[in-house]
Amino acid sequence: MYLYDDYDRRIQQDRVNQFREQVQRWRNGELSEEEMLPLRLQNGLYIQRLAPMLRIAVPYGTLSSRQLRQLARITRDYDKGYAHVTTRQNIQLNWPAVDDVPDILQDLLDVEMHANQTSGNCIRNTTTDEFAGVNPDELEDPRPYCEIIRQWSTFHPEFAYLPRKFKIAVNACPDLDRAAVQVHDIGVELVRNENGERGFRIYAGGGLGRTPMVGPIIRDFLPELDLLTYLESIVRVYNRYGRRDNKFKARIKILVKALGAEVFAGKVEQEWEAVRESRTRLTPEAVARYKTYFREPAYEQLTDGPGELSDKRTTDNEFSKWLSRNVQPHKKPGYAIVTLTVKKTGVPPGDITDKQLERIADLADQYSFGEVRTTHHQNVVLADVPQRDLYDLWQAIRPLGFATANLGLLTDIICCPGGDYCALANAKSIPVAEMIQRRFDNLDYIHDLGEIELNISGCMNACGHHHVGNIGVLGVDKKGLEFYQVSLGGSSQRDAEVGKILGPSFARDDMDDVVEKIINVYVENRTEEERFIDTYRRLGIEPFKQRVYDKEPAHA
Ligand code: HEM
Ligand code: SF4
Repeated sequence: MYLYDDYDRRIQQDRVNQFREQVQRWRNGELSEEEMLPLRLQNGLYIQRLAPMLRIAVPYGTLSSRQLRQLARITRDYDKGYAHVTTRQNIQLNWPAVDDVPDILQDLLDVEMHANQTSGNCIRNTTTDEFAGVNPDELEDPRPYCEIIRQWSTFHPEFAYLPRKFKIAVNACPDLDRAAVQVHDIGVELVRNENGERGFRIYAGGGLGRTPMVGPIIRDFLPELDLLTYLESIVRVYNRYGRRDNKFKARIKILVKALGAEVFAGKVEQEWEAVRESRTRLTPEAVARYKTYFREPAYEQLTDGPGELSDKRTTDNEFSKWLSRNVQPHKKPGYAIVTLTVKKTGVPPGDITDKQLERIADLADQYSFGEVRTTHHQNVVLADVPQRDLYDLWQAIRPLGFATANLGLLTDIICCPGGDYCALANAKSIPVAEMIQRRFDNLDYIHDLGEIELNISGCMNACGHHHVGNIGVLGVDKKGLEFYQVSLGGSSQRDAEVGKILGPSFARDDMDDVVEKIINVYVENRTEEERFIDTYRRLGIEPFKQRVYDKEPAHA
């Protein structure tokens, strides 16, 4: 991972000092609320329903064990002893006191972390595949490109006040997309052209929220060294033409839709002509230098399927289930990628306590070169675990609640904080996640159901990605009461799609029945190999609608 040099440290220290002073001036009445707002947002600080909320940047989701321990300490000293993993791979604190935030930022800086640009109308944290760099299916490690984008976009003076927030995601897998690039303002996909040259496919104008949109491709192949000049051109066109008169129409997706992808792309190309040879253009030396930040750890020479693993696999059914769900193949023989699912029933998805953070840090040191990753599904990954250690690791994470073998299954729910914390919520979302998890508490059954994404948001801002859930749940307000609208058929994968609304919304108490009826339609109609989304696509929404709005009781 990238380590700070003196220059980085100095800039960040200045930032912390400035913010300390700003908080003081605000407390003394020298800065109005209005003046303070952009200043605190630039440092990731929101004021929420019950308390402030601080969003801490986790570049491309990578954290060292040292950083995890510091986060644990921060949650203990300044918060209620837990942190929350967000759908943008960041970490949020839900209960810090505003006056403590300068100290928190200082503590973060001590471990080379910050909260810059985690909020406000600027380019946010660049996200990527949580298996980046270890994934046997990827063309190449996407993280150096994320780092290039991070350094370019951090404190970029021209892009500090965009019409709206701006999110970039990078993927490098030809067949899979764990970074959901098509629902980002810009999606960057590493590709090779027919001559084998490295480059990028560029999507623009995707995004969730009020007007969900799958981003169109605006350039099929961009040569590697042109990455930044081209991104700069896109953001410039957006900065110039994006709407500033209406917050709800300010995202780049609205501009791309209004102009049409071709016209938008034409404007970008025109802008690019002016800047493509500028000093922002990458050089092979610069790219090579960024790649050195992501050198491989000191892997041992191992072989796949060591004896220890094979024995346990055949004798321990539960372990075997966990292996098949939460453990993925690694590009190095004898290693595996392990996802700790932060989805224990009864705990808000993505919430991790200080003690758990410390335990994960220990496990990362013991089994995975001292590094972890956060995922946009609100889970945590140990990316470099020797296969011979998998059984030990599994035993260590079971008491922590991180070994539920449900990765990618119905109970691996993405869920925003909703009405429990968020001032914008129409409804609570955490209790809905919990009641669905309780209803589908049988691991054998959910394994049999196979891959299903169920995502929940407490309002149309879509922090919980409900639009792209195979089953999406959205909190709505009906005359002051909390209701839930269900959509079906969403996907954030290669075949990205915004889900279709099923019909009138439901009371919270009905939500587990509703999901069960939807699942039953799938179970009764699926062919042997069909995933939920395939059956839905084949049948369309009607049979689901009929079942769910039928007056028959759920278990009839
Ligand atoms: C509790 C404080 C939060 C506030 C005030 C907040 C606010 C918002 C708002 C206003 C939007 C809509 C922006 C727009 O499209 O115009 C949004 C979208 C989003 N937020 Fe949050 N959010 C919060 C928490 C979270 C959390 C906890 C997560 C992750 C679990 C998250 C991740 C996202 C994501 C991924 C979007 C998607 C929008 C897109 O792709 O365009 N936010 N948030
Ligand atoms: S979706 Fe709405 S309720 Fe949920 S965190 Fe985002 S803004 Fe808050």
